[in-house]
Amino acid sequence: SDIDLQGVHDTLIAVAFEAGRMILAADPNNIPKGTKKNSVDLVTEADQAVEKMVNTRLREAYPACAFVGEETYVAGETKVTDAPTFIVDPIDGTTNFVHGFPHACISLGFAIGRRPAVGVVYNPFLDTLYTAIKGQGAYMERNAVLNKGTANSNKLKLPLAGRGDVQEAPALRGLGTSLVGIEWGADRDGANYDLKVGVFQRLAAAKAEAAAASSPPNAMVHSLRSLGSAALNLCAVAAGQLDCYWEGGCYAWDVCAGWCILSEAGGFVASGNPGDWDPELDSRVYLAVRGAPSGARELVEEFWSVIGDKGIL
Ligand code: IPD
Repeated sequence: SDIDLQGVHDTLIAVAFEAGRMILAADPNNIPKGTKKNSVDLVTEADQAVEKMVNTRLREAYPACAFVGEETYVAGETKVTDAPTFIVDPIDGTTNFVHGFPHACISLGFAIGRRPAVGVVYNPFLDTLYTAIKGQGAYMERNAVLNKGTANSNKLKLPLAGRGDVQEAPALRGLGTSLVGIEWGADRDGANYDLKVGVFQRLAAAKAEAAAASSPPNAMVHSLRSLGSAALNLCAVAAGQLDCYWEGGCYAWDVCAGWCILSEAGGFVASGNPGDWDPELDSRVYLAVRGAPSGARELVEEFWSVIGDKGIL
């Protein structure tokens, strides 16, 4: 493709900062009527306004590129094709936004041939920016807006592979020494809910002495974290803050940007069509792991044996 990925990356950062200003200024109590499937699947007017702004800016800058956004997605109609496509979640972590829990972001992905090529994730509450261009590494920048144009700005841009001057994460060991990201999602009944909660239990519970051969083993991980943003979970794995993150139920806009950042940071996604990504074939089940696949094989195997069933959703 003859698209200048650096140009896309720079445009997405400018758009992310504009979105950040809108999100910080927005009233999270403006909830439009009749938009989502149940009482916990939240959307605010800010989600819609930010998506509209992002769509407008990207259409101006890249009129030939396609656009898929969470708030304008139509089930069964919207498709991610092979065309260069912006894949956007205007506010990932809407529940946090509504409650004032400062862990929400704008997630701006760019895919070519259905593969993530650029990722920009920006949390305006903590002013933290995560970025990646395929083949060029991933970066985290703290105080991203605060330090723009100052001498600090380069210093704070930390490469996530090799982690620069970020504290080195210990080598990835088994699941039993892991901090694991999980999410509750908006599906709170039925078989998928039972499966999901069963997984949380098996991950957390003390290892049974003699588990029945037929039932999956327990893992007793260091702990579980449910931070409320799929994109920021992927970035946390990229930054080595979480060892892995598992969710059944993500959509393209939740993961496109974070996928690029995670893989450029040397981590990988072990599911969600393993190793590669085609949103059309997506199982929507994501296990994101820090470190290279070679060093993480054991952890991934252990994870699948503990959860017993990959087939959620
Ligand atoms: C949601 C968040 C949440 C995850 C859901 C997502 P939204 O995105 O990322 O953590 O559990 O699967 O849909 O609705 O806040 O954009």
